[in-house]
Amino acid sequence: MRLEVDITGKAFRNAAGGTQDVLAPIKFALQSGEVGVLIGPSGCGKSTMLRILLGLDRDFHGTIARPPEARIGMVFQEPRLLPWRSVEQNVRLAAPGISDAKLSELFRILELEAHRSHFPGELSLGLARRVALARAFAVEPDLLVLDEPLASLDDALAGRLRDEIATLVASRPVMTLLVTHSIDDAIRLGDRLFFLSPRPARIVAEVPIGIPRDTRGEAEIAAIKADLARRTQGDRAERDVS
Ligand SMILES: Nc1ncnc2c1ncn2[C@@H]1O[C@H](COP(=O)(O)OP(=O)(O)OP(=O)(O)O)[C@@H](O)[C@H]1O
Ligand SMILES: [Mg+2]
Repeated sequence: MRLEVDITGKAFRNAAGGTQDVLAPIKFALQSGEVGVLIGPSGCGKSTMLRILLGLDRDFHGTIARPPEARIGMVFQEPRLLPWRSVEQNVRLAAPGISDAKLSELFRILELEAHRSHFPGELSLGLARRVALARAFAVEPDLLVLDEPLASLDDALAGRLRDEIATLVASRPVMTLLVTHSIDDAIRLGDRLFFLSPRPARIVAEVPIGIPRDTRGEAEIAAIKADLARRTQGDRAERDVS
């Protein structure tokens, strides 16, 4: 399976009748088994791009090629749970065929067992985000889209969930697109990093990570980080002299 994104432009109309360009031309493709990471300043257009490639916003220029049969798992930036349904019902509604064993395993991994019968209004933001992750994983997605899924979690839990995302991604052929502001998450989870410009977003650098995810130890991660820092310093120096 393959996702091909070829956006030539996206603008929003504002209340005053003017338009605001949000996306510049953006082109990339993602294969099954690959994790692409989008990193860019707040407001540059990342969530807008995700909505476009999921088919939730059709008001743009360009094309998106996504296998029509692809099952999609999505974690929005806001957890977007149904407030009148319990945690368990929220997940079951997304994945009606899920077995009890699979559901229990997901709740165990995401440390949600004690919250099965709670309603979204009773959850902290971090808990609600975990439910949104459970819901995305429950559908056994072919395309997994994660918009800052580890925000508002403490470091220890974020680290555990990051490992769980890595395990899920390794367990079946899934195309994953992750938005994060954390270079650490990007390096630990990503196969290709896309650095975006301020609005209107375009890809200013595409950085492949050559070392397979499961062999990236702390030393490799530190080396990749140092290499990235050198690159961005180089880019900055280039801008300063031009
Ligand atoms: N429905 C909308 N109508 C008008 N403008 C919008 C709409 N949605 C987003 N925008 C504007 O488009 C720009 C990009 O928003 P978007 O949410 O895609 O940014 P982002 O990169 O996801 O930011 P963040 O990192 O803060 O989540 C912002 O200037 C935002 O105000
Ligand atoms: Mg966003």
